[in-house]
Amino acid sequence: MLRHLTFPILLLLCLLSSCKKDAPTTSCNESPAYKALPFDLGVAVNIQKLQGNARYRQLVTAQYNRLTAENAMKFDAIHPEHDYYNWAETDYLINFAKEHDKKIHGHTLVWHRAIPQWLDTYNGDWNLLLKEHVHQVVSRYKQQVKSWDVVNEALNEDGTLRKSLWFDKIGPSYIEQAFKAARNADPDALLFYNDYNMEHNPAKLDAAIALCDNLKAKGIKVDGIGLQMHIAAEYPLLNDIATATKKITDAGYKVHFSELDIRMNLNGNKTSFTQSDLNTHAQRCRDIFRLYNNVPEQYRFAITLWGVSDADTWLKSEYGNNDIPLLFDDQYNPKPAYCEIKQLFQ
Ligand code: G3I
Repeated sequence: MLRHLTFPILLLLCLLSSCKKDAPTTSCNESPAYKALPFDLGVAVNIQKLQGNARYRQLVTAQYNRLTAENAMKFDAIHPEHDYYNWAETDYLINFAKEHDKKIHGHTLVWHRAIPQWLDTYNGDWNLLLKEHVHQVVSRYKQQVKSWDVVNEALNEDGTLRKSLWFDKIGPSYIEQAFKAARNADPDALLFYNDYNMEHNPAKLDAAIALCDNLKAKGIKVDGIGLQMHIAAEYPLLNDIATATKKITDAGYKVHFSELDIRMNLNGNKTSFTQSDLNTHAQRCRDIFRLYNNVPEQYRFAITLWGVSDADTWLKSEYGNNDIPLLFDDQYNPKPAYCEIKQLFQ
């Protein structure tokens, strides 16, 4: 009798195991995620939460090995007055990183946003101002901040240079001046150009690569390009992301997936999310991590999540909708995406 039962049971077990292969891993322990990956796992951190929220701090300590200050190193936060630099939060982060053996990615030295009010009325030497700001920030953290987003989002969608305060006051040379100043302040730091939409916009990506090549032609080394990767469940296509990534590495630059979050409520019509939504998010995350692992090792840098948990995502305030873009949920519990990426390379 037993003999007749064996085959159907085996078939059922086989079907279940194959189904299991497609369905994401929905529960797992909290062993360190970064130790399960063949590349660095970064996260954008809010310093006040790092100081005041025990669970937030525990997750940052245990799960990630590279930290980016979400806002504390931006111009408005770190240089709020012409003759005053606010080092409090950034010094805290540097010390936290030392204590917990974390690498720090500096974000960002020159950007058209996060401009402090005093610059609205500044009428001094803008070239000197830019060089001095970059010099002060990079040299303070020399050898501690191992890499920088030197210039962030300098391009329009068509690949032309964005008209920004820096462009207006200094001209297009502000970009090379920023990279030169950063290189002079810390010759060992890896220097990146960082921008969004390049993973699916060839005009913008080609312009970014040309921008970096022009700097290289002038002897100003740029080490890498950051694809911010603010993406959605279905868009951009994996093939487009892979094509963009290959263009960067073929041009000889490291590629950083620098601000990954995966919008699951693009149209804003969801107020809550199902297990199916969580599974879709996990599968998308798995696909992105698997794609990044195809980058040749010498050009890999890190995947950085733009926030610790769904409770921390900028997307909610930016778009006014609920969303589940990150690895931990609103209550700081692991999501299927977290479990999925941990078992991906085991
Ligand atoms: O610190 C002030 C606080 O004192 C004030 O009370 C409050 C209300 O106005 O604002 C606080 O500053 C906010 C800051 O985040 C810190 O929370 C700014 O208004 C707010 O604009 C800022 O948003 C950040 C945004 O960049 C602009 O700097 C987001 O948190 C951050 O996630 C977002 O990150 C950017 C990357 O740096 C570059 N790539 C795009 C990405 C998303 O926009």
